[in-house]
Amino acid sequence: MMKQFLVYLCAALIIGAAGYSLAVDAGPDDMILQAEKDKAKKPKPSVFPHKAHQAFAECGDCHHGVDADGNMVAYTEGMEVQKCETCHYKGSGMPKKIETYKGAAHENCKGCHEQVAAENAELAAKWTKCMPCHPKDM
Ligand code: HEC
Ligand code: HEC
Ligand code: HEC
Ligand code: HEC
Repeated sequence: MMKQFLVYLCAALIIGAAGYSLAVDAGPDDMILQAEKDKAKKPKPSVFPHKAHQAFAECGDCHHGVDADGNMVAYTEGMEVQKCETCHYKGSGMPKKIETYKGAAHENCKGCHEQVAAENAELAAKWTKCMPCHPKDM
């Protein structure tokens, strides 16, 4: 009985996952993020394991859209995903803190990492200063 239930559960998960991957473009697995519009004089790319984050975070933890009045619209499945700097750039009229790619990314990425580090001593010890995002050899 239990075994049969588990088989059904696995089948449902596999079909569910396949249906999902057909419907939604999950983007690249691994990325090097680099601002183009407001690039620093000394560029500082960031590594970003996108797929790994999708295992524990929701798309909407990072992605969102904008409506005709310039208000933020929450992520919905299948929504067109645009690059952060399509909307976050100098002159966009965004609040100062999140006006640039750097600002928006630091608010989002560092915001969550700080929360995670506060609850996980092991990661907090590994994540010093600008790590794990800006490795020295990049
Ligand atoms: C949780 C990840 C994360 C941490 C931690 C982080 N950053 Fe960033 N940072 C990013 C992302 C993502 C960007 C936007 C993409 C890019 O241009 O690098 C960025 C952008 C930047 C830029 C602009 C780079 C450019 O080429 O225009 C600078 C400068 C920068 N960060 C400095 C720092 C410094 C200094 C620290 C540590 C005190 C730090 N960051 C910590 C993720 C992070
Ligand atoms: C932890 C944050 C985070 C999560 C969670 C996340 N993404 Fe992303 N995603 C990003 C960032 C950052 C980029 C790069 C954006 C850029 O280049 O400006 C990106 C890029 C993409 C792109 C490529 C966009 C382009 O035009 O280059 C797609 C498609 C995408 N994500 C879909 C998804 C979907 C679907 C999910 C959920 C299953 C998801 N993402 C979850 C942060 C995230
Ligand atoms: C289609 C336009 C658009 C794109 C693309 C976009 N944003 Fe935003 N974002 C907005 C708007 C509009 C707001 C609200 C600004 C305000 O408060 O006036 C916002 C707010 C934010 C905020 C502050 C609110 C919050 O949720 O914490 C952060 C952080 C942020 N964006 C990060 C990002 C990151 C990171 C990306 C890329 C993964 C991204 N944004 C892509 C339009 C966009
Ligand atoms: C919703 C929370 C959240 C957001 C938003 C987020 N991260 Fe993370 N990130 C994590 C957690 C949790 C881990 C640790 C995963 C683990 O080691 O189990 C992690 C790990 C990482 C790692 C290390 C991966 C490794 O192999 O050790 C990098 C690099 C990273 N994040 C970069 C970023 C960047 C860049 C952004 C923004 C574009 C970002 N993160 C946004 C939660 C987040």
